[in-house]
Amino acid sequence: MMMLEVTNLEVAYGLSQVLFGISLRAGSGEIVALLGRNGAGKSTTLKAIMGLLPIREGHIHLRGREVTGQPPYILNQLGIGYVPEDRRIFHGLTVRENLLVGALPERRRSKRGRQDGWDFERVFELFPLLSGLVERKAGTLSGGEQQMLSIARTLMGNPDVLLLDEPTEGLAPKMVHALEAQIGKLRDAGLTILLSEQRVKFALRLASQAYLLERGRIVFHGGTEELMANEAVRRAHLMV
Ligand SMILES: Nc1ncnc2c1ncn2[C@@H]1O[C@H](COP(=O)(O)OP(=O)(O)O)[C@@H](O)[C@H]1O
Ligand SMILES: [Mg+2]
Repeated sequence: MMMLEVTNLEVAYGLSQVLFGISLRAGSGEIVALLGRNGAGKSTTLKAIMGLLPIREGHIHLRGREVTGQPPYILNQLGIGYVPEDRRIFHGLTVRENLLVGALPERRRSKRGRQDGWDFERVFELFPLLSGLVERKAGTLSGGEQQMLSIARTLMGNPDVLLLDEPTEGLAPKMVHALEAQIGKLRDAGLTILLSEQRVKFALRLASQAYLLERGRIVFHGGTEELMANEAVRRAHLMV
């Protein structure tokens, strides 16, 4: 089933248009990479999907249902989880409190009818590092630990679709390595993930297909092997 479908998306900040006809699709349980250099429009695309920016043109469908123009809290209830670039954890709250903030009320959980919901136990199984830090103030965690907490908090809302904005940005190699395995496990658990990255090799090891953005336009779309095999695209856009 097509989980997430974006069609001809156009987004502007005031008078300055930054997305020009972005179309992309993600099937259920698939990781789709959104690649591109700084300023290409990756974050803007994810924010627009999450209802955080007004959509000038285009459509967004979730499980075949049109959700264009819905506010973030509705999209959240419908199953989209967003992990922003700057992580946005609550620095003054403990790890446990941050996770509680992300948890959906029981009522909504049951309404969504999911049996495989996320709780503390499951989150700590995926991120064992966090389990030893439950009472620590989130602001005292390392960048990698904060990134894991940010993902963990979003998982507590039981999303079906995860929008991950440059999760490896600024992380130590060891953390990047750990995160790769963890994101792979999320896919194996059935989540659909739209993964924005500048770290191309990292993203392509996880994703089954990739979209390459440049100045607000999709300049390449294909399977990850196809992308790596395409010398011209690699040299012109990816520097790998
Ligand atoms: N709040 C904003 N106001 C005006 N322009 C913005 C804003 N945020 C991003 N932009 C511009 O939109 C373009 C795409 O940015 P962004 O989506 O953040 O790219 P990426 O995430 O790929 O680095 C850039 O030219 C950037 O300068
Ligand atoms: Mg960005």
